[in-house]
Amino acid sequence: MELYEAIFKRRSVRRYAGPIDEGTMEEVESFARSLKPLHPGIRTELRVLNDDGVRGPFKVSAPHFLAIYSEEADGHAANAGFMLQQMDLFLSSRGIGSCWQGGPRPTGDAKKVSGLGFVISLAFGVPGEDVHRRSTAEFKRKPLEDITDIGGMNDILEAARLAPSGMNRQSWYFTGGGDVIRVHYARSMLTDQMNRVNAGIALCHLWLAALHEGSAAELVREEGQDAPRGFSYVASVMLK
Ligand SMILES: Cc1cc2nc3c(=O)[nH]c(=O)nc-3n(C[C@H](O)[C@H](O)[C@H](O)COP(=O)(O)O)c2cc1C
Repeated sequence: MELYEAIFKRRSVRRYAGPIDEGTMEEVESFARSLKPLHPGIRTELRVLNDDGVRGPFKVSAPHFLAIYSEEADGHAANAGFMLQQMDLFLSSRGIGSCWQGGPRPTGDAKKVSGLGFVISLAFGVPGEDVHRRSTAEFKRKPLEDITDIGGMNDILEAARLAPSGMNRQSWYFTGGGDVIRVHYARSMLTDQMNRVNAGIALCHLWLAALHEGSAAELVREEGQDAPRGFSYVASVMLK
């Protein structure tokens, strides 16, 4: 419920006042151990790194970075997006600032963990600016008609529309209707991996919104699904 509510007010925080206290860090680490995967068969691990442990373009200066590592498997980037977005919403719901970090990468020993490769990270810490928006009008996002051809289900689709994405590209498209919403990501020469992460983030918002509406919100990968031109199919949320 708290995660669902955070969808409508969260924002990226790029200024930090300092590290979170030890007790709060324990809560963060405990929640990180409880994340639901999109693809349970894909092995992942999470690590909290400090500012020195991460370097690269568009990095925000933050006290902590939650890095996700994964085995390379079909759907692993969307899986990472799906999992870390639960963290982004959890942090926002607790008044802790966070910002996805698509450019920076871990340094030294943290480049790999338990043989798993780094996928992406989330900066976090005590916020030095607002953590929440006052209304959904403050989100800069495409209108629903640009990202779906589904008529109806606006409440669930609105949650996906508001999702954060790398460079705010909103590189997703939703098809289906009736009992299913299918998520597709925009294929790209330069940002393919990030666009897959973005799709996982949108799926997380769809899943939470469907649960909120009382649906079982089962996550499935349907075999042989077509996608709109320029997009590839990622996964579906079943609404029954
Ligand atoms: C996969 C991904 C990668 C991102 N990478 C960066 C980054 O490297 N640096 C940064 O400052 N913001 C980054 N962002 C944050 C986006 O710019 C931000 O989510 C988007 O502009 C929407 O704004 P909002 O999060 O405040 O709603 C990233 C977001 C996502 C989802």
